[in-house]
Amino acid sequence: MLYSLLKTVHVLSIVLWVGGMAFAHFCLRPAVAALEPPIRLRLMHDVLGRFFRAVLVASLLALASGLWMLGRVAKGVVQSGGRFEMPLAWWVMTILGIAMVAIFFYIRFSLHRTLDRAVAGAEWPAAGAALARIRRWVSINLLIGTAVLVVTLLGSR
Ligand code: HEM
Repeated sequence: MLYSLLKTVHVLSIVLWVGGMAFAHFCLRPAVAALEPPIRLRLMHDVLGRFFRAVLVASLLALASGLWMLGRVAKGVVQSGGRFEMPLAWWVMTILGIAMVAIFFYIRFSLHRTLDRAVAGAEWPAAGAALARIRRWVSINLLIGTAVLVVTLLGSR
């Protein structure tokens, strides 16, 4: 029961995180591209601020639930006298998942803060440059997240 609950929290967190990145990248960004820079940059700053608050919770929940599931499975195997060998798909998920969380922290606590300052000071070229860097790193996380999903789901029985 606890394991199913952890897996539900894990997958729902990933749905919010990866789904939100796909929405921002493929739907929101092209739709606002034609707006004037001050309007576009203020709007994107506000939207991303809200999205990143949700992702902060989702990414930590995904990490904690994933590690907790790993720990439970490993403990069960060891307690029944076996030797725990982690499946390759789980290795990929764990390593790339931790990389995704690290990239998200860089986006949230470095790049988004630069965007904050630039928007507050109405420095639109600097805000545009910060947003372009956020977009690049979000695309990288979206690619990694999609690859992890493919490996995990194809690797599951
Ligand atoms: C942050 C480190 C992560 C750890 C330690 C971790 C660990 C785990 C573990 C132990 C399971 C249970 C597998 C099972 O019972 O079959 C699981 C399930 C799952 N994880 Fe992760 N995970 C992490 C990140 C991610 C990421 C980044 C994604 C996707 C982008 C992801 C997607 C999934 C999915 C879809 C499942 C359900 C698989 C299934 O039931 O077939 N995980 N994860």
